[in-house]
Amino acid sequence: MKKILTLCLLTLFLLSAAGCNAAQQAAAPTQQPTASTQAAPLALKTKILFVNTSHRPDGNTYKMGESFLAGIPHDTLFLNDYKIYQLGQHYDDDQLAAVLAAMEQADTIVIGTPVYWHTMSGALKTFIDRLYELDKPVKALAGKKLYFLMQGIGPSETTIEQLPYIMSRIATRYDMEYMGAAPDPDDLTALQAVLHGN
Ligand SMILES: Cc1cc2nc3c(=O)[nH]c(=O)nc-3n(C[C@H](O)[C@H](O)[C@H](O)COP(=O)(O)O)c2cc1C
Repeated sequence: MKKILTLCLLTLFLLSAAGCNAAQQAAAPTQQPTASTQAAPLALKTKILFVNTSHRPDGNTYKMGESFLAGIPHDTLFLNDYKIYQLGQHYDDDQLAAVLAAMEQADTIVIGTPVYWHTMSGALKTFIDRLYELDKPVKALAGKKLYFLMQGIGPSETTIEQLPYIMSRIATRYDMEYMGAAPDPDDLTALQAVLHGN
């Protein structure tokens, strides 16, 4: 009798363990689509491209860009939708070319970044580094007007000084026309005056 009871308990335990396992499998999150499956070739409808280099598509960088371009038809490219490998990494599914193809259609490029660790986002830095591999002039950039937006919870003076400086150097190197920077959402007015005058 004792043996039968033990056998029943063991069977019950095994059945409930199998049930738990099935439940866990059912609850496992479905895999998120990868960046490469999300990113479609972007055909611009306008000549102004806002490039959001934040990790959040609708965060503060996006809001700053929208506020800067309020009332002006523009396209937006969310850089994290594209798989851009580090300088020196060469993989078939790299999508730098797709980003450049979008930029090539614009005559004005507005780049917005959040401040991460006192500097630009990693996505923007990687994008800039990768330009090094390309033949100059980079067709996607040469002759384009470049506006630069940045924002953070409290960027240091050094960051506020350095990031626009870096972007102005990038513009010079890649034959762009550097139109200026807004280092804070409260500083948009002066740069908007430049934009509206052009
Ligand atoms: C990894 C990380 C590092 C950050 N470092 C800084 C910093 O050094 N200085 C700063 O002012 N804000 C810093 N922030 C705050 C972001 O710049 C701030 O939240 C910004 O509004 C985020 O923009 P987003 O909404 O477009 O992502 C950091 C945020 C993250 C996620």
